[in-house]
Amino acid sequence: MTIELRPLHDDFGIEILNVDISAGLDDAEFAEIERAVEDYSVVLIKHQNLDDDLQLAFGNRLGELEFDHVTYGRDRRINYVYRIGNIDWDGNHMPASHERVVFSTGNQMWHSDSSFRPAPAKFSISYAYEVTPQGGELEFVSARAAYARLPESIRSTIDDLVVTHDYVFSRSKVSPDAVTPSHAESLPPVPQRLVRTNPVNGKKNYYVGSHARSVEGWSDSDARVLLDDLLDRAIQPECIYSHRWETQDLLIWDNRCVLHHGRPFDADRYRRRMHQIRVTCGCSSMDE
Ligand SMILES: [Fe+2]
Repeated sequence: MTIELRPLHDDFGIEILNVDISAGLDDAEFAEIERAVEDYSVVLIKHQNLDDDLQLAFGNRLGELEFDHVTYGRDRRINYVYRIGNIDWDGNHMPASHERVVFSTGNQMWHSDSSFRPAPAKFSISYAYEVTPQGGELEFVSARAAYARLPESIRSTIDDLVVTHDYVFSRSKVSPDAVTPSHAESLPPVPQRLVRTNPVNGKKNYYVGSHARSVEGWSDSDARVLLDDLLDRAIQPECIYSHRWETQDLLIWDNRCVLHHGRPFDADRYRRRMHQIRVTCGCSSMDE
C-alpha cells in the first residue's frame, strides 16, 4: 500500500487515500495512520467498508476503548459504540421533538469529547452509515494552531491554569433537567490542565469548549471572559474545517487538541446515523 495524503485545511487535518481498513493493516501502515492523527489532529479516510466489530478492532489498536457515558449514566451498563443522529437501535427514525434528539443538540456547541471525564477521550473515531443531503456537517478547529497564534502575554497567563470541566453545566444549556440524577452522579466535575502538550511531538494547545466551566482560583466572571475569549479566538470562520459527510466516511480526531461541533439538520425530514467509538487518554490531563 502506498499511502497518499491530501490536506483538509491550512492549519490541520489530512485525508489519507489508498487505505482499506477492512482488508487489514500491517504494523507499518497502522503506524502511518496513528502518526497522522498525532501530527494533523483530524484524519479522514473515505470509502471504508466497516461494521462495529471492524471499527472496534481498529480503535483497539489506537488505545484503550472508552465506554459510553450515556448508557452507563442511565443504567450502569457498559457499551462502547455511541450512536450519533436520529435513528434508534431498532432502526426507527426519531423526530426532532424526541427527547434524545433534543438532548443531542448539546453537541452543536463547540466541545472536546469527554473533557468532563477524569480520563478524557484521546481520539474519537466516527463512521457514517446514513447522512443528510444538507446540514449535519461536523466542524473542527485546531486549538494547537490557536495556541500558536496567541500573544505571549496570554500564553504566560494561561500556561499553568487548571480548568473545571462539568457535563451537568454544559448540558444545562440545553435544558435544566437534561441530565438525570443517575447520570449526573456518575460524572462529577473534574480538573483539567488548560494548556496541554502532545507527548509525541511536543506541540502545545489549549483545552476549552462547552464543558469548561470555571478556572481554579479565579472568579466565575473572570473565568468566563477568559474561556469565552480563548474559544472565540479558535473558532473564527477561516479556522474551521467543515466536513460534509458521505456514507462510508471514517473520521478520526484528536480530542486533546481539536474542538468540534455538529451543525444542525432537519431531523424530521432526514435520517442520520453515525457510529462513534472513543479511545481514552488513560489518565487525567493533570497527570500527563
Ligand atoms: Fe463530540
